[in-house]
Amino acid sequence: MSEIDKTQKKDIDWGSLSFSYQHTDYSYACDYKDGAWGVGRLTPDHNIVMSECAGLLHYCQEVFEGLKAYTQKNGDIVCFRPDMNAKRMYDSAERLCMPPFPQDRFVEAVKAVVKANLAWVPPYGSGATLYIRPFMIATGDVIGVKPALEYQFRILVTPVGPYYKGGVTPVKLQVSKFDRAAPHGTGNIKAGLNYAMSLFPSVEAHAKGYADNMFLDPQTRTYVEEAGGANILFVKDDGTLVVPQSFTDSILPSITRRSLVDVAQKYLGLKVEQRPVKFAEIDQFVECGMCGTAAVISPVGEVDSDDKKIVFRDGHVTVGPVMAKLRQTLVDIQQGDHEAPEGWICKIA
Ligand SMILES: Cc1ncc(COP(=O)(O)O)c(C=O)c1O
Repeated sequence: MSEIDKTQKKDIDWGSLSFSYQHTDYSYACDYKDGAWGVGRLTPDHNIVMSECAGLLHYCQEVFEGLKAYTQKNGDIVCFRPDMNAKRMYDSAERLCMPPFPQDRFVEAVKAVVKANLAWVPPYGSGATLYIRPFMIATGDVIGVKPALEYQFRILVTPVGPYYKGGVTPVKLQVSKFDRAAPHGTGNIKAGLNYAMSLFPSVEAHAKGYADNMFLDPQTRTYVEEAGGANILFVKDDGTLVVPQSFTDSILPSITRRSLVDVAQKYLGLKVEQRPVKFAEIDQFVECGMCGTAAVISPVGEVDSDDKKIVFRDGHVTVGPVMAKLRQTLVDIQQGDHEAPEGWICKIA
């Protein structure tokens, strides 16, 4: 590509974009064949043609990631900790017997596909971002249950609107009667199969007016695990941040959550407890939030189960002070308005 012009943009009303897919100029694709990853390529073709017998279609060998590129105040186009997505996808692939995509190549591919779509990266201040969806699928034929021999690693990008169009307002969760993942199953990797399982409870929760489900541990149903699309955080009365851990390995290791823990300790001087959290103790907490790439933190004001309605004292009308501070600090780090720990901001252009 010739000289990069970061300022030439598509004619889009960035602020009113929703979270939906639209084609951009290029996707990235790389094939695995004969035991090795080939040379990657940028492609304007947004369709994938594959055999009806592809392993993806029968035994769900698919893993994916989600991250964003955005414009900082100084005009830099960056993304946040793509090396963490590379590592998580590597781990996800290994768990599903897929050949992991090399982590350095993952980061290079993210940079290449964003650079090829610079005109689609929303401008600073619009609240919109370029959503980046790396994924890997089994393209080789399999009829008996076994890993395929051929795969494709791919990245699509699409511009998405701001998560919060108004203010950051607290939402409600319901405790699900379903499990998101099996004990020691695949809950700790980012594989499409986990999300297929979560659709039924998610549609049910939305129909009842809840933003998402709170899933309890699948073994004993007594500990808090996570939401359908985000990890969960609590705040104690003394300001300590409490981060649920899973003793059945069924929580997805959120990159936002791990970053927030560092932010809490390093910049905000908060005490952090990372431990299994009993559902029975959460009425002692004063704030709750869901964290993930999409919103950084979505404050949770209320959690309802069959026999209990828990309202968080400091965060049910508006976002509580600790969640607000944590969220703002991480947003500022991402936007370039606050010092960032070494290696967190990856400059693309
Ligand atoms: C089940 C689940 N948990 C947690 C998260 C948050 O992870 P991250 O902070 O890496 O976006 C996501 C979103 O990707 C998710 O789907």
